Amino acid sequence: MTKTFTIPQSVLWKDTYISLLDQQKLPLETTYIELRTLEDVWDAIVTLKVRGAPAIGITAAYGLALAASQYEHEDVSSFLVHLQKDKEYLANSRPTAVNLAWALNRMVNSVQNVSSVNAAKTTLIHESIQIHAEDEEVCRQIGENGLSLFKDGDSILTICNAGSIATARYGTALAPFYLAKEQGKELKVYASETRPVFQGARLTTWELMQAGIDVTLITDSMAAHTIKTKGISAIIVGADRITANGDTANKIGTYNLAILAKAFNIPFYVAAPLSTFDPTLDSGHEIPIEERDSKEITHVAGIQIAPTGVSTFNPAFDVTPNELITAIITEKGIIAGNFTKEIQKIFN
Ligand code: MRU
Repeated sequence: MTKTFTIPQSVLWKDTYISLLDQQKLPLETTYIELRTLEDVWDAIVTLKVRGAPAIGITAAYGLALAASQYEHEDVSSFLVHLQKDKEYLANSRPTAVNLAWALNRMVNSVQNVSSVNAAKTTLIHESIQIHAEDEEVCRQIGENGLSLFKDGDSILTICNAGSIATARYGTALAPFYLAKEQGKELKVYASETRPVFQGARLTTWELMQAGIDVTLITDSMAAHTIKTKGISAIIVGADRITANGDTANKIGTYNLAILAKAFNIPFYVAAPLSTFDPTLDSGHEIPIEERDSKEITHVAGIQIAPTGVSTFNPAFDVTPNELITAIITEKGIIAGNFTKEIQKIFN
């Protein structure tokens, strides 16, 4: 029998605004804020009120539809010029996750052949709802494909939050755990805290606990010891951008875990939708890596922990080279072996 349980969702479309779970307030407060303008959406993305590659794309798509619904142009060509400008503004909010550009391009492409401004406005709203709905389906499929790699009772390590609140629903790396729960299978999740923004500690633990999934929090520095002493059988992570050869950008610290997986001879899985692939880039060297405010590492919860004026380096993502990845779990199946060839096959 299918079990019912709570799977939190972060982005809700309300026709005249976006209702967004403020992920900066979690886990202490579950607050939904209202985004009504393009600037609200840009700010929510930059300040990580919404984060996670697919959720950023979905929110930006709704944001563009919302902004366009307020344009006062009467002719289609000036409408499209305005739309392009707003698209570029949102696309610059965060550079690494390609889902943002993917969703925005899809939105703009959807109205290239419209005959009136009103038709364009309606099409944009439909397209954003479609992007949202498809992501839920895609994540569920990733969950099913991913679950086939695990057995009842496995203990699995993850980093950051590639869960339901980072997507439309279910998540990518966390989707197999929701599917396991539905099917009455027991999987144990170890969540790495994910310094400096603590998506693992604040978000992954919170959302899995909402669903009654067995989750244990560790600090990032405990990964090797935990793999060794807790019998971790695999590591699964999400992705922000996967290049044509399978190199994968994901939250800073992911690369460390991939090296540990190799050292302990356990599989290292990346779970991601096709919207996270960027086949225009040959390798991970070309992925732009976001660097964020030094305050994220000199302060913890607003309290200064490093000397004033210390030099800092705060990359938000790293790139795991394809040779450290056992398989990439997508909605279209599990990619392994020659990543370049397999990725090409999917995109052709
Ligand atoms: O900086 P964030 O929190 O947006 O980083 C998120 C991640 O790195 C996720 O693992 C990735 O976006 C996949 S979310 C399904």
